[in-house]
Amino acid sequence: MKEMLQQLRRVAVDAILNAADAECLEALRIQYLGKKGELTKLLKMMGKLDPSERPAMGQLANQVRAEVENAIAKRRAEVEQMLLQARLESETVDVTLPGTEQKVGHEHPMYIVLDEIKDIFIGMGFEVLDGPEVEQSDYNFTKLNTDEGHPAREWSDTFYLTEDSSILLRTQTSPMQIRAMEEKPLPIRMLAPGRVYRKDEVDATHSPMFHQIEGMVIDKGITMADLKGTLNAVMKKLYGEDTVTRFRPHHFPFTEPSCEMDVQCHKCGGRGCPTCKGEGWIEVLGAGMVHPKVLEGCGIDTSVYSGYAFGMGLERLAMRRFKISDLRLIFENDVRFLEQF
Ligand code: DAH
Repeated sequence: MKEMLQQLRRVAVDAILNAADAECLEALRIQYLGKKGELTKLLKMMGKLDPSERPAMGQLANQVRAEVENAIAKRRAEVEQMLLQARLESETVDVTLPGTEQKVGHEHPMYIVLDEIKDIFIGMGFEVLDGPEVEQSDYNFTKLNTDEGHPAREWSDTFYLTEDSSILLRTQTSPMQIRAMEEKPLPIRMLAPGRVYRKDEVDATHSPMFHQIEGMVIDKGITMADLKGTLNAVMKKLYGEDTVTRFRPHHFPFTEPSCEMDVQCHKCGGRGCPTCKGEGWIEVLGAGMVHPKVLEGCGIDTSVYSGYAFGMGLERLAMRRFKISDLRLIFENDVRFLEQF
């Protein structure tokens, strides 16, 4: 009996020390210490022993049970530690591996130019306004002194949204002049950039959607000299101190007198080259003194107040600024193009 207990202890402890994981340990526990386990079987044989031997054997049996239990507990702790170690190793992050590249967008060249222009005008005390792209014909045309029958109102040029031609996609940002005069207290110094729409086929210089920047000043004693002085200063800030400009007479229904402003070609210095199409000058905006009819239509007393207005094409400014040759590049949003600015 004594040998059998000692044998059991040796074999069991040996097996336990070699157990690979928690399941093996549990199986061994059941095999040796369970209700039908080997130690129990040995204990059942106690009855056959001489009563004088029983206390010593009982003691030994308890000792064996305790040792086997200790071995299991010790090995269990070891196995858990090994498992943790293995997990830590398999889950380590190699901080030296290259990361996944995050594509960061890029500010659009047209908005870079728009921000510069806004900054310049804000510095001169102008307020930046935003207005609707879906507009009433009244604001886009009528209140801007553009009568029924004017060619600009043609269905072939304008995206009308209603059969009666009363609602349209604005063809210019000039309706913002009316909205400002109707809503703002005088004096007004405003800049209104935004999208405009015309039925044009897409090519290198045309798009059915493009951007304009409208500007207007209404105050006491405003003259053409204010218009010229302000716009000259803006062009110098935008294109450099040596920028040369000229004003040509023109016609717009909502200004009187009206003009267009040209900037001398930066490429050829006015001699004529492919960039300016041989002209020596590049047209940058339309402008003029706000027509008295327009002012009066908005309830402004023309014996006290006068004003000037201008409208420029943003794409054209951006193209000139960054030497972009084709308008379509501005709208395609090819990252390889956008990244260059
Ligand atoms: N709205 C005109 C256009 O689209 C541009 C323009 C001309 C705006 C004269 C003005 C202006 O404010 O005074 O061609």
